[in-house]
Amino acid sequence: MISFARGAPAPECLDAELLADCARVAIERDPAVLAYGPGGGYAPLREWLGSSHGVEPARVVATNGGLQGFLFYAEELLAERPGRVLVEAPTYDRPLKLLARLGADVVPLAMDGEGLDPDALERALGEGPASFLYTIPTFQNPSGRTLSTERRRRVVELARAHGLPVLEDDPYGLVRYKGEPPPSLHELEGGELVTYASSFSKTVAPGMRVGWFVAPAGLAARIEARAVSTYISPPFLTQATVFELIDRGAFEPNLERIRGLLKLRRDAMLAALERYLAGKATWSEPEGGYFLWADLGADAGELLGRAEAAGVTFVKGADFSPDGSGASSARLAFSYASPSEIEEGVSILSTLLRA
Ligand SMILES: Cc1ncc(COP(=O)(O)O)c(C=O)c1O
Repeated sequence: MISFARGAPAPECLDAELLADCARVAIERDPAVLAYGPGGGYAPLREWLGSSHGVEPARVVATNGGLQGFLFYAEELLAERPGRVLVEAPTYDRPLKLLARLGADVVPLAMDGEGLDPDALERALGEGPASFLYTIPTFQNPSGRTLSTERRRRVVELARAHGLPVLEDDPYGLVRYKGEPPPSLHELEGGELVTYASSFSKTVAPGMRVGWFVAPAGLAARIEARAVSTYISPPFLTQATVFELIDRGAFEPNLERIRGLLKLRRDAMLAALERYLAGKATWSEPEGGYFLWADLGADAGELLGRAEAAGVTFVKGADFSPDGSGASSARLAFSYASPSEIEEGVSILSTLLRA
């Protein structure tokens, strides 16, 4: 099966030898990583993350992956300020499932090629207070879109005007193949309302399960307390392994290597779409991340059944919408398949679309 469904890095992205060596050194240097410890994460990593974000380490919580941190954040916010949760439409499907499980009233906000539409946010805020806004402003999952700097400023202005807490989820920002990064919402706002979340899943390895949150001090302490009551301690061994990678100066070169491998895949997918689907479908052209969003001009759910029978899989757009909209859309992940598989997979999709 050629997978355009997996939001995972190609196996070559994971440098087992390098990470095994970092893990060995991490244990030898500090055997306490094998013990229980602070629920907010491995202290040297927290300190490094705190200094990179210009905050006290106590405001950083290194979680067991970014998604676990999302759940802690959502539980805290919904308990503190019950109300509607504003999300982009489409958005990452796993948080939607967690929000449904929490019984949240989820309000989808329109997007376009420049990301979240601030007018849609303003309208939603005009209808009453909200618990929080969940946004993925850079190389969004699933659309691959990036919020423009101008819109970032407007989102921050609206958050300030309405006292709206914002969760900025940014696991893909460093996986950039071209162009200059825009400022984060967290930087623009100053970190009083915006909590910044990211993860080493896309820049090191997802199996590490190392995510982090930079939150206002009180909220960070409450998220940490939730972490302790859920899993006692996060996985210090993998947090210390990531820290060793950073400390020995290997994080950037490894990231550069990953960017190279993934850019080849993004370029292969854009070229194949142009070759096989020009005039029949439209798609986003992300400058980074794992995904692009295609409008296939046909029922994506129906196509998916036939595609899987022919050996190609993807995720249909409706899975990313709280209201099931996006029937003709698909999330195509280019991160996992090889460039030649990508070419073959797109050619199969185009044959099926013609049939
Ligand atoms: C937008 C977004 N947030 C969070 C995550 C979860 O990452 P982690 O592996 O750190 O739990 C993902 C993973 O695909 C993602 O796409």
